[in-house]
Amino acid sequence: MSRRTDLTGTKNVDYDKVAKVYDQVRTSDPKMMHQILREVPLGRNSIILDIGCGTANNTLLVSRTTHARVVGIDLSSGMLHEAKKKASEIHLAYASANHLPFGNVTFDLVFMTEVLHHLADVPPMINETFRVLRASGEFCIATQSHEQIDHRMTTRFFPVTAKIDKGRYPDIEVAKKHLRAAGFTNVRSKPFTFARIPLGDEYLETVEKKGYSMLHKISEADYQEGLKELRAAYAAGDRLEYAPGYTFIWGSKST
Ligand SMILES: C[S@@+](CC[C@H](N)C(=O)[O-])C[C@H]1O[C@@H](n2cnc3c(N)ncnc32)[C@H](O)[C@@H]1O
Repeated sequence: MSRRTDLTGTKNVDYDKVAKVYDQVRTSDPKMMHQILREVPLGRNSIILDIGCGTANNTLLVSRTTHARVVGIDLSSGMLHEAKKKASEIHLAYASANHLPFGNVTFDLVFMTEVLHHLADVPPMINETFRVLRASGEFCIATQSHEQIDHRMTTRFFPVTAKIDKGRYPDIEVAKKHLRAAGFTNVRSKPFTFARIPLGDEYLETVEKKGYSMLHKISEADYQEGLKELRAAYAAGDRLEYAPGYTFIWGSKST
């Protein structure tokens, strides 16, 4: 049997397993959330839904930086278990993005960060989101374009992850078509590149803990090869700098 990565069947990640290390390697992303929240007028009566909230890092950040009521759903009981330990004030529910357990026209803002590429079928989630949004509500998907995947540091050391992730991450224009088909208007995408940052020891530690889901998708041989090169780069004192890039896909529900 080949020791190389098999590129088929790469959608599923066992988040109940990942939940045990997720918060050791991921935190909330204030810069990303700022990009989202600055676009939507929110007040005390606003209600926000975080789809695929995971351990509620961003859910909690939104709850603490706005006056809105914030709700999160996720399809991993392990991730929700971690979320509930630190976010007792937030309503969290075990649910699929394709079957949101909420009435029609409930939310002013629905967002999802780093979830789109996990969905086997995107249109049912988009139709559900359209249903639960209030008139004039906004939907924001934070994801990465294929070009942004090419520029990741992880792609440099584990090139096969880029091949896998281009299969997992929907093309931005295709995702926008799905939004329009569901009835969203003013569908737009905004690429955003954060300032370049030098990668410290935490990047190596995250890779060593397989804190990035695509590292669970490659063969042990490909993982070990990349890890060896990454450790060598750290040992040689190479300056590893990375400018994280995201794409925000927006859609409005017009009246
Ligand atoms: C990379 S994590 C992102 C978590 C969180 N949004 C964040 O930015 O930290 C992806 C999350 O999506 C969830 N997920 C995957 N498929 C889902 C689905 N169909 N419905 C709801 N959640 C889903 C996973 O359980 C996991 O918690």
